[in-house]
Amino acid sequence: MTTYAHITGWGMHVPNKILTNAEISKMVDTSDEWIQERSGIKTRRIAGKEDTSASMGAEAAFNALKMAQIHPRDLDLVIVSTSTPEHMFPSTASIVQNQIGAVNAGAFDISAACTGFIFALDMATQAIRSGSIKSAIVIGTETLSRIIDWTDRGTCMLFGDGAGAFVLQASEKPGGVISSIMRSDGSGADLLSVPAGGSAQPASADTIAQGLHFVQMKGREVFRFATRVMAKASQEAIDKAGLKIEDISIFIPHQANKRIIEAAARGLKLPIERFVMNVDKYGNTSTASIPIATVEAFEFGKLNKGDNVVMVGFGSGLTWGAVSLIWTGPLDAEKPVRFGLLSIFVGIRSFLRKLIRWIEGLIWGRWIPK
Ligand code: UT7
Repeated sequence: MTTYAHITGWGMHVPNKILTNAEISKMVDTSDEWIQERSGIKTRRIAGKEDTSASMGAEAAFNALKMAQIHPRDLDLVIVSTSTPEHMFPSTASIVQNQIGAVNAGAFDISAACTGFIFALDMATQAIRSGSIKSAIVIGTETLSRIIDWTDRGTCMLFGDGAGAFVLQASEKPGGVISSIMRSDGSGADLLSVPAGGSAQPASADTIAQGLHFVQMKGREVFRFATRVMAKASQEAIDKAGLKIEDISIFIPHQANKRIIEAAARGLKLPIERFVMNVDKYGNTSTASIPIATVEAFEFGKLNKGDNVVMVGFGSGLTWGAVSLIWTGPLDAEKPVRFGLLSIFVGIRSFLRKLIRWIEGLIWGRWIPK
């Protein structure tokens, strides 16, 4: 009997603060007109002091769980894709796993930049299809505003913060993720990176003075690479699924630049209306962009039960990939989950844990040798 991996829940979370192009024009030498013409971006969301990659990821995850009607304790796996993890370690996934109360799940991070969500989706799908697990949550979350050089006009207008999540569940009903392709080319590693802060160049006063802990990007080269791979990757995923391009109802591409999405549409000889686009509202949220675009596509009635969908991404690494899937929506829940009570419980538990950590800090603080 074949097992399929269905996307049964989806959710997003973005911070409240909206940063406009006009505001960016006061920070660096640019204009609303230039940013819109070259990227299609009008606004982006910026994390507040209390927002982190884990907190936004947990919010998105919780919304996805509610949609799927699955209790966090029934999750087998939590995968977080992020380029802005909370720490070098532990993984952001472990922190999210605790925050949502997924007490029976394993958790780990994937680092594949903007393509990370596609890779994570593929990993979760393979684990479900092999019979190893029955359910997983895949989260893409970023606080890119914390690693942006706000004096660099070539990058600061491009990125935004936010999170999106999918719940995946096993079912014998045909559907869900059907095919995927994952690619990378490390010879382009220097085109988009945060050079310092890792083991190659540990953070030091010198690396900070040189701004090497900020995003460095050769925008034009990344643009050329992106326009080369988007259409090709989509076509490969469609071929692998045994489908034809005309079978695909909607494409959900990584939201990096309106012109890159238009180039992909031209490459596939398709009208731009077949591509979901919300880069104007959120900018490039890296690995969070595909799930955020999916949530909005569903809300705006662009995604319907039975649709063949292609999701395609590219990013630092260099990495790129695509998945082809059948959009089936939530499975019939065995019994409804009462999220009202669960939300209160998760909130109280997270508060108590923070309180315990604070008290532990007070006690252990005295024991740490000076
Ligand atoms: O998720 C993956 C992450 N990254 C990407 O997908 C980024 C891909 N690249 C891009 O989206 C585009 O390259 C950008 C939007 C970043 C830049 O657009 P572009 O059309 O490729 O501009 P450019 O870098 O070729 O620069 C053209 C000119 C330059 O001036 P000169 O050398 O021609 O005099 C830049 O200095 O525009 C200048 N420029 C700006 N001018 C006003 C660069 N940034 C700005 C700016 N405002 N913000």
